[in-house]
Amino acid sequence: MYSSEGISRRSFLRLVGVGATMTALAACAPAAAPAAPAAGAPAAAAPAAAPTVANQLEIFSWWTSGGEVEALNALYEVYKASNPDVEIVNAALAGGAGQGGNMKALLETRMQGGEPPDSFQVHLGRELIDSHVIPGRMEELDFLYDEAGLNDVFPQDLIDIASYDGHPMSVPVNIHRSNVFWYRTDKLEQVGAEVPKTWDEFFVVAEQLKAIGVPALAIAESEPNFSGHVFENVLNAVMTPEAYRGLFDGSVGWDDAQVTQALEILNKAYDYANPDYLSTSWGDINDRYVADDGPATMIMGDWTHGVLKSKGFTNYHWAAAPGTEGKFVVLSDSFGLPKGAPHRDNAIGFLKATGSREGQDAFNPPKGSIPARTDADPAVYDEYQLEAMEAFKTNILTPSIQHGAAAKQSFVLDYAIAINVLATTRDVAAAQAALVQAATDAEFGA
Ligand code: GLC
Repeated sequence: MYSSEGISRRSFLRLVGVGATMTALAACAPAAAPAAPAAGAPAAAAPAAAPTVANQLEIFSWWTSGGEVEALNALYEVYKASNPDVEIVNAALAGGAGQGGNMKALLETRMQGGEPPDSFQVHLGRELIDSHVIPGRMEELDFLYDEAGLNDVFPQDLIDIASYDGHPMSVPVNIHRSNVFWYRTDKLEQVGAEVPKTWDEFFVVAEQLKAIGVPALAIAESEPNFSGHVFENVLNAVMTPEAYRGLFDGSVGWDDAQVTQALEILNKAYDYANPDYLSTSWGDINDRYVADDGPATMIMGDWTHGVLKSKGFTNYHWAAAPGTEGKFVVLSDSFGLPKGAPHRDNAIGFLKATGSREGQDAFNPPKGSIPARTDADPAVYDEYQLEAMEAFKTNILTPSIQHGAAAKQSFVLDYAIAINVLATTRDVAAAQAALVQAATDAEFGA
């Protein structure tokens, strides 16, 4: 299943799926049936007439930036074409995917309160399984996959990631790549630099840029999240896929010397970042990047491509993040069916649009991501996306930590906070101790 170079696509995706299933099974506890009324208790009042339910579809997401908004609206248009009488309530809350983001906090409150939206954006795999499936708040989607023929058009291993106890629990709308190095071609030309392929080469270019007053690397760490994204890609630069995956099954400790090496690289990179990185937010960083005095490079997922396209910005190109050429660090956005969805039929219609070829070929071009389906129309994708589609087929796949693919949500929270400790204190030992504690609390490999 493993070679020293890493794992096959099928093995990678199956492992992420199996991991989710095992964790889910270990903690599954069916919701208890409501207690019967005590003998002699007054008869419950007749239920009030059910309120008239408007013919709506309420969708939660954190998609408020350029690219994201266009993509979701394009998907809504596909849904509306078959459901013209449904009023779409687009509950998109700013704040990005960060744990401090408003959407995840409000969604949790609504879900725990038994007032779910009709569907919501959630990362495929562990984020969905641990946050909403194990608590018993999601419907199984076997019926929908059968009705819509999704079993024939999604890679089986992607379906495995989406599944819990063998039942698909959400519909993936895309595949995003985490390990992308977005560089300003004009800025590298200013110092006559080639695109750095390793971190050693990066720091040479960073010194040249620093000498002319240009921040080499964009960082937006106003809350724990962005640095966690960068760090997962430094780990992928330093470690083989097998060792990286070992961090999540307990076979490699977070006290490993390679984790120390990766922390030291990131710590050094902060010396070349925009100086105000601790007060720069996820929403700000793209505006900063396109500004004339902005940073020269950014390590971020390919939703960045969608955002920059939406700004009409073209003065950039891309490469694998330093040290990660030949690897594809994977994450995916998906939609599920909450139990008690107020407009269940409309939600089912939306999930079918989300999984449809038409829906995915409408959503992904503006989003910057690639389709989850294997039968997409390549004619509607751009240069970056066609390269990403090829890379997804040929590269070694490893799961994103920060975006819900590699480990359970409670670990992701602790992980992001541990890397924020590094960004804030610049203390490698303290950050590594926090990562070790996070892994202990996550009981990897238990
Ligand atoms: C951005 C993207 C979203 C992705 C997320 C990663 O918000 O728009 O699609 O899932 O980053 O956490």
